Amino acid sequence: MTRPRLYSGMQPSADSLQIGNYIGALLQWRDLQEEYQAFFSVVDLHALTQPNDPAELREKTRRTAAQYIAAGIEPSKSTLYVQSHVRAHAELAWVLSTITGFGEANRMTQFKDKSARYGADQTNVGLFTYPVLMAADILLYQTDIVPVGDDQKQHVELTRDLAERFNSRYGQTFRMPMPVIQQDTARIYDLQNPTAKMSKSAESDAGVLWMLDDPAVSAKKIMRAVTDSEGVVRYDKENKPGVSNLLVIYAALTGRQIPSIEDEYAGRGYGDFKKGLAEVVVNEFGPVRARALELLDDPAELDRVLAANADRAAEVADATLADVYAKVGLLRRG
Ligand code: TYM
Repeated sequence: MTRPRLYSGMQPSADSLQIGNYIGALLQWRDLQEEYQAFFSVVDLHALTQPNDPAELREKTRRTAAQYIAAGIEPSKSTLYVQSHVRAHAELAWVLSTITGFGEANRMTQFKDKSARYGADQTNVGLFTYPVLMAADILLYQTDIVPVGDDQKQHVELTRDLAERFNSRYGQTFRMPMPVIQQDTARIYDLQNPTAKMSKSAESDAGVLWMLDDPAVSAKKIMRAVTDSEGVVRYDKENKPGVSNLLVIYAALTGRQIPSIEDEYAGRGYGDFKKGLAEVVVNEFGPVRARALELLDDPAELDRVLAANADRAAEVADATLADVYAKVGLLRRG
C-alpha cells in the first residue's frame, strides 16, 4: 500500500533557520517522514518576493537544505529538494492564478501584513500571488497533509478552495490537502518581545535563537531573555509570556512536560532556570550545527543530493502538470 503524502517547505530567507522553525516544523517533519511519503522543499521562488542579493540567495538555499538534513530529514527517505529545480511549480501557479479571484487573493492576511510592513514601493505582484504558488507546491504532489504553523493556515485553505474549484470545473485532478496545524505550544516567541512570533525576518537579532549560532551566543541570548518581576518559574502565557515561552522551548527540546520543569525549578530564580535552558539549547543544537557546517563544507555533494531528489520530485509534479494542461485545453506539443 502506498503511504499518504505530506508536503511542507520553508523559505531560504536567512543564513540560518531559527528555533521556531525547528520546534514548530522540523521536529514534526522528522517524525512524520516515517509514516508519510514526504516532500520537503526549500522554497526559493517564494523568497524572491523579498529583495535578495543573488549570491546570498544561493547560499541561503544551500544552508536551509543542509539544516533540514542536519535536523534529521533524511534525503533517502523523504524527497528534499529546491523548489526552482522543478519547473512545474511556476507553471501550475500560472494556471491556478487564472482561477483565483482577485478579491480572494486580496483577503490573505499575510499579504496585507507584509505589504503594510514593506510599504507601497516594496510590495510586488509576486507577494500578492505568493499563496497561489504555495497552492501549486501542495497540489502538484497530490498531498494529503500539510503540516504548518497557524500563520500558514489561510494559505492552505485557499489551496483547498482552488483544488475544489478546479476539480469541479475540469473533473477530478487534485487530491484535497488537509492542513495539520501545530498546537499553540509549538509556537515560539521572540525572546526580547515574547508576544511576537520568533521570525527569520525579525528587526532585532537579540530575541532570535538561530540554529547555526555559536552556542555561546545562544546561551547569552537566553540569559538576557525578557522575563518578569515575579521570580517564579511558572507557565502563565497571559501574564508571564517571557517565562512561558522559555518553558515551551525547554519542554519541546527535552520532551518533558511543563509541570515537571516547573517543579525542578521551584524555589530557584530565573538565573538558574535560564542556565538550565541554555544547556538544553546548546546540547540540542551543538550537534545539529556541526552536522550542517560539515554538509556545507562539501557543497558539490549537497548539490548532488538535491539534484537527485529534484528528479524524484519532478516525476510526480510533471505527471500532475501534464494532466492539468490537458484538462484546461492546452494543445499538446506534437
Ligand atoms: P516560513 O519559511 O515562514 O516558515 C517555515 C515553517 O516554520 C513555522 N514557523 C514557526 N513555528 C513556530 N514558531 C515560530 N516562531 C515559527 N516561525 C515559523 C511556519 O509556520 C512554517 O510552517 N509559506 C511558507 C513556506 C511554504 C510552504 C509551501 C509551506 C511555501 N510553500 C507549501 C507548506 C506547504 C513559509 O513562509 O514558511
